[in-house]
Amino acid sequence: MRTEVAIIGAGPAGLLLSHLLSLEGIDSVVLETRTREYVEARIRAGILESSTVELLDAVGLGDRLREEGDEHRGIYLRWPGERHHLDFVDLAGRSVWVYGQTEVTKDLGRAREEAGQEFYYGVSDTAVHDLTTDRPYVTFRSADGEDVRLDADVIAGCDGSFGPSRGAVPDAVKRTWERTYPYSWLGILADVAPSTDELIYAWHPNGFALHSMRSETVSRLYLQVAPGEDIAEWPDDRIWDELAVRLGHGQDGWELTPGPITDKSVLPMRSYVMEPMRYGRLFLAGDAAHIVPPTGAKGLNLAVADVALLAPALTAMLRKNNTALADAYSDTALRRVWRCTHFSWWMTTMLHTSGDPFDARLQLSQLRWVAGSEAGATGLAENYAGLPIGM
Ligand code: FAD
Ligand code: PHB
Repeated sequence: MRTEVAIIGAGPAGLLLSHLLSLEGIDSVVLETRTREYVEARIRAGILESSTVELLDAVGLGDRLREEGDEHRGIYLRWPGERHHLDFVDLAGRSVWVYGQTEVTKDLGRAREEAGQEFYYGVSDTAVHDLTTDRPYVTFRSADGEDVRLDADVIAGCDGSFGPSRGAVPDAVKRTWERTYPYSWLGILADVAPSTDELIYAWHPNGFALHSMRSETVSRLYLQVAPGEDIAEWPDDRIWDELAVRLGHGQDGWELTPGPITDKSVLPMRSYVMEPMRYGRLFLAGDAAHIVPPTGAKGLNLAVADVALLAPALTAMLRKNNTALADAYSDTALRRVWRCTHFSWWMTTMLHTSGDPFDARLQLSQLRWVAGSEAGATGLAENYAGLPIGM
């Protein structure tokens, strides 16, 4: 089999890349280990920054988002006895949208299907070959057990943090940075109307808590827990009681309404960056090249920003034989990656408690400055609502 761009991974990065390339008339084949149903039901990100929304609009993927998503002007920051609203529109001229990654993936899947995209779901044994030649190829076993060789001009590694692309870049060429944080998140999805109009990020001596949402009837909430926490230790009542304490139930008239929990999981928190994001004819995008802890709501947005750079770079390379953008791709993408890596680390370390009383005093001082100073609040707003693509 032959295509122009072999895309490994049908997450947001891979699907959006295939969409952007097809708008330029470039053929691709998308390979994915999971089933389409699994990918579309995987509960992950919930916040789209303004440049993500603008891009989805511009490429014909914004209709359902505009109809069913919810535009937020900002967030609340809270700690015991205090509650502050940061208005990103006033501070930085940009808003964010609440629209689940599940919905982004469904919109992309539908658009690709209608356009006749060639997909292989349920593949195994994906491997990449001859990356430093101009005839790279991918081998894999299809869902019906057939061994397939896919020749391409370029391979896009959009296979997330566990895919094979990252490992195909030799150690002698790459450099990696990693930080594992000493806490995890316990995340729940609940069939209950959100108790807040915009997200609440809460610092508390017991640990961080976040009140997010998916719709008018579905709430998404998180608690900082110990790494590797046993979920069996957290029956529903304990989760709601702890959320109420940390989010400030009963303070200044605010109340948290509990409801039936439909999903519960524990997520590790880590930062990871690999440089460069290219090796020969293999280009990496999204979680395949970098991971951020979720406190800054950046992972999905970074994946979108990467492919927004990669698609025009591959178009110029394959259609005009001009490699300038492709040669600059890694450096250009990494500028935003490191900005988001810093912002995500900063939000994480400002809001999660470590048990060290000196750290706690510094965190509260930092939170007071962010909430009380226009300069502090604007810094958070600019980063959270998102820098323009290409920055
Ligand atoms: P993925 O979505 O991981 O997609 C990679 C795909 O490659 C997967 O479907 C995988 O099955 C497939 N694959 C893997 N190996 C192979 C193989 N060998 N062959 C073929 N296919 C393969 N980000 C935000 O921006 N905002 C948020 O609010 C936010 N919240 C989050 C909350 C949680 C609980 C989690 C876990 C993440 C959150 N993120 C958030 C991060 C965001 O979900 C990821 O950054 C995003 O999914 C990255 O997209 P991707 O396409 O690069 O990778
Ligand atoms: C979510 O809604 O899942 C979410 C929102 C904001 C974050 C992380 C996750 O910072």
